Amino acid sequence: MTFPSLVRTEVSGTVAVLTIANPPVNSLSAAVRRDLTAALSRAVINGVSGVVLIGEGGHFSAGADIQEFDAGLDPTAPDPNDLHAAIEASPVPVVAAIRGTALGGGLELALACHGRVASPDARIGLPEVKLGLLPGGGGTQRLPRVAKAAVAAGMIASGRVLGAAEARAAGIVDRIGDDSLAEAMILIEQLGAVPLTATSGRALPPDLAEAIDAARAGISAKSPHAEASRTALDAMAQSARLSFPEALAAERRLFLGLMESTTSRALRHLFFAERAAAGTPGIGKETRTRPVETVGVIGAGTMGSGIAMVFANAGLPVTLIERDAAGLERGLKRIRDVYDRAVAKGDLSAEVAQDRLQQITGRTDIAALSGVDLVIEAAFEEMQVKLAIFQELDKIAKRGAILATNTSALDVDVIAAATSRPADVVGLHFFSPAHVMRLLEIVRARETAPDVLATVIRLARKAGKTPVVVGVCDGFLANRLLYPYLRQADLMLEEGALPEQIDSALNAFGLAMGPCAMLDMAGQDVAWHVRQRQLKDWDPARRYSRLADLLVEQGRLGSKTGAGWYRYSGRQKESDPAVEAMILQESDRLDVTRRAISDEEIIKRALYAIVNEGAFALADGTVQRASDIDVAYTQGMGFPAARGGPMFWADTVGLDAIYADILSFGASGDANWRPARLLEELARSGRSFADHDRERRAEAA
Ligand code: COA
Repeated sequence: MTFPSLVRTEVSGTVAVLTIANPPVNSLSAAVRRDLTAALSRAVINGVSGVVLIGEGGHFSAGADIQEFDAGLDPTAPDPNDLHAAIEASPVPVVAAIRGTALGGGLELALACHGRVASPDARIGLPEVKLGLLPGGGGTQRLPRVAKAAVAAGMIASGRVLGAAEARAAGIVDRIGDDSLAEAMILIEQLGAVPLTATSGRALPPDLAEAIDAARAGISAKSPHAEASRTALDAMAQSARLSFPEALAAERRLFLGLMESTTSRALRHLFFAERAAAGTPGIGKETRTRPVETVGVIGAGTMGSGIAMVFANAGLPVTLIERDAAGLERGLKRIRDVYDRAVAKGDLSAEVAQDRLQQITGRTDIAALSGVDLVIEAAFEEMQVKLAIFQELDKIAKRGAILATNTSALDVDVIAAATSRPADVVGLHFFSPAHVMRLLEIVRARETAPDVLATVIRLARKAGKTPVVVGVCDGFLANRLLYPYLRQADLMLEEGALPEQIDSALNAFGLAMGPCAMLDMAGQDVAWHVRQRQLKDWDPARRYSRLADLLVEQGRLGSKTGAGWYRYSGRQKESDPAVEAMILQESDRLDVTRRAISDEEIIKRALYAIVNEGAFALADGTVQRASDIDVAYTQGMGFPAARGGPMFWADTVGLDAIYADILSFGASGDANWRPARLLEELARSGRSFADHDRERRAEAA
């Protein structure tokens, strides 16, 4: 007898144990569903007294194979609902033994079983909405039949994942034990002694309608998956009106509708993009890493304090350096305040906050870093300052220590060259606030050693960051693409728009913040410094607006000075007639006849500027994949995840249309609109950025 390759059958006494073996996460691909259906049927025919479903390795199953959604579902493979129906029709009890994750289709499979046991490390949930989907294999119908109504509706609408104890308390899991197989055997014996009830035959909780209403009220309109959450609750509500098979069919229809939606495609794209972004040539699973057990951070300003918390939160002891005691105390107080607020909001227990705080030791002597494994310099963004620090570090840091700079734009090759060990130097560009923002640009300098890179990638993941590996260039990835975007905003102000119109058009598109409000928050002086640097070798064929410089000259540095593009009282911002007057005066000075600029033009000019620069960055190797840009922009710059990032969005618009618009924007000769050759090639050949990524992947394979 041959056994299916993705599902192993073993017989223990009179019980068949079916092990799903589809690494790395036991996703329920079409082949797994086929093999599982066959293995179950064989076990039942062979007269076993019960069946245990279990996953090999650290996962029961992470659910449907998400990649298959893009490829199109295999019509010849058994539908998940067919497999679930076969389980429910089994004459002998079928029990799911959950070790590790049972997510999405993995939990739906377990819900179709007659009972569920879990190991204490189990993670149980229906996270489909986070991918813009709903549980399409009976999850909206079976979960409320086993779990409390409020828990079921909340889980389905939010995608929240429960631990084993919470799942047990909610009724999803029947038993918890370290040896889940042994627990499953006990449950099979118990179930064998009573008439079997299929989950679909169980009654619905009487308070389901209220629970659905409450969950619906809790959906944030700003959530990228609000539509999926609402649709998932609609599917759940069918249970009260339709027979079980009809409700399953309705759920499936709604699922297929969402699967085809641009939002779900975008969120699925980002799921894989995030995982791909750290992959980099010459670095693989086999690349050696260096041990990092202690961390030093130089600079206790906002950035340095945030970075210290990142590593303290990951359980590493951190030495935080500031030049003088007063500055150090300010930094330590900032850190204490963050933890205090987290405790007050109930996000952290007082004990955990205390533990984390104790990981951070403040010092005013850089020599205190002589023994640490990783140093991150987060001092003032000035080359001379950084060079002096790295020369000093070169003298005191132990051999093999990784020396990182948190510069947001300076040349990491130059910083590395200030040391006698450039191979140990790397850029780690955190986004502010560092302990909150997930994006981390890892800057691979010319001589950065592969093991240094592999170590910081691994560490970033451990610290809950999303690493994106980028090359050295002005602004690296996210900021480099931001400059042309900001420039278009300024030029449109000159031509006829006002700050609030630009911001509200981009807000309506889905950006968390428009460019004017964003710079007011970040500080107009920060962008001013960048522009001054860029102006040193400015191409005169590029139009430049000095409007933002005028703001800075007037001391309007943004919210911190109470005025920037807007006027601020506390956190409230309002438009300022003085700014409007200044803009009109500048248009006048330039002899520009102001005109109405449509929201459509604002969106195109602001975002196509990002897309075009992204194409330059792809072609010159600053970034390896268009999808890396999408990760950086959605996580670091507030680009709406539901649109998949600027490059994914560009593909949905069509590169030929974008290319044509860019040509027309540049018709007057403004070199800001010089199209990237790569964009032109893709547009002319009818290809997309996704095609380009695929082609590069194929070349590398
Ligand atoms: N389908 C296809 N591939 C999946 C997958 C799924 N449901 N879940 C994970 N993977 C892949 C990842 O893409 C990654 O592939 P890679 O190594 O080629 O990059 C690999 O499995 C490991 O996943 P990763 O997320 O890097 O591992 P982790 O240990 O950090 O997290 C999970 C594991 C299961 C918690 C996480 O992958 C996850 O949340 N998966 C999605 C679950 C889900 O939404 N299920 C419902 C689907 S509709």
